[in-house]
Amino acid sequence: MDDRPRYDRATAALDPPFAILDLDALRANAADLVRRAAGKPIRVATKSIRSRPVLERILAMDGFRGLMAFTLPEALWLVAEGFTDVLVAYPTADRQAIAALAADPRAVREITLTVDSAEHLDQLDHVLAAVRPRPEIRLCLDVDAGYVALGGKFRAGALRSPVREPEQAADLAAEIAKRPGFRLVGLLAYEAQIAGVGDAPPGNILLARAIRIMQARSARDLILRRGRVVNAVSRLCDLEFVNGGGTGSVERTVREKAVTEVAAGSGFFHPRLFDFYSGFTGRPAALFALPVVRRPAPGTVTVLGGGYVASGPAGPLRLPQPYLPAGLRYAPDEGAGEVQTPLLGEAAYDLRLCDRVWFRHAKAGELCERFATLHLIEGDTLVESVPTYRGEGRTFL
Ligand SMILES: Cc1ncc(COP(=O)(O)O)c(C=O)c1O
Repeated sequence: MDDRPRYDRATAALDPPFAILDLDALRANAADLVRRAAGKPIRVATKSIRSRPVLERILAMDGFRGLMAFTLPEALWLVAEGFTDVLVAYPTADRQAIAALAADPRAVREITLTVDSAEHLDQLDHVLAAVRPRPEIRLCLDVDAGYVALGGKFRAGALRSPVREPEQAADLAAEIAKRPGFRLVGLLAYEAQIAGVGDAPPGNILLARAIRIMQARSARDLILRRGRVVNAVSRLCDLEFVNGGGTGSVERTVREKAVTEVAAGSGFFHPRLFDFYSGFTGRPAALFALPVVRRPAPGTVTVLGGGYVASGPAGPLRLPQPYLPAGLRYAPDEGAGEVQTPLLGEAAYDLRLCDRVWFRHAKAGELCERFATLHLIEGDTLVESVPTYRGEGRTFL
């Protein structure tokens, strides 16, 4: 059966707006990530899921180990809910959460914080100065995996860690070793310019070629540099893990000997922005339905809501994709609206009031900040309705 009739049938009793997760698609996407990881474990990026019961379902499948959280309050909550091995992959400046971590022995065992400078250590020391006895905080060192060329004039990749070269990483590892109350257990180096940049941008062959050249060069640089960084740091401590990559780079990242695990999140929901990669294809798993509430002109319908724009550099690709029925597009002057969204196209002639239009978000987890519930669909049946983070009153970012 086509997806639209089966989604309509599964959710016939619901009134949109609402969000669904197609479990058949989710499982197919998860299996493909595991295949691409070729035996290395995948740490699940929670920012791209943002639903506790869905995280539980994913971790119950083979091939996944541990979580990559996006804030410390989130990690504390997840550990309180029974999750283990949670890497907070972004530095924290939350004094209360740091104090709460130090006061909870289980959280201290299960949570690893990410640092990239002595300043981060100073800040943690400052908050923890009064804590007696002071627990040993698990740390992960974040290394810049960006691509730099032309003597620094060209740079691709996320602007994150100032630590780039093996000597810099070794210096910071030595500083961590010198200070009581910290244990360096992991390395993180996320190559956003490969993992998060599609190499098949729509309608732009020259850009696609340039991206592929950049990514191939960057991958070559990383094999050497990440390996050297890991060697330099391993002389000073026993690393439990070296994390790299993301959905867009899984098969490439796991080829590096120095990498022990890969991160992935977006690949489970397969949002719009992940359509533009030549190396893999996923099935759209997370969708939201909006109701037709007006028909302002022939060939035009207006749906309620829709302006769920994704983070990142603003542009048309950050808008949700009108997905089913196929062939609908935004009105250029209005885009995706705050309360109402007009949609144009052939398919609009057949839509009536109360019909649904199914959308895909441009990114994965941000959808869950708009909906309290994910309705889980199997075939043409709604099998369970589970809360998102927001549905549990948890909005971390
Ligand atoms: C540190 C880190 N690892 C991995 C990822 C990849 O996540 P995803 O698979 O959801 O694209 C990200 C995304 O920004 C990240 O920040």
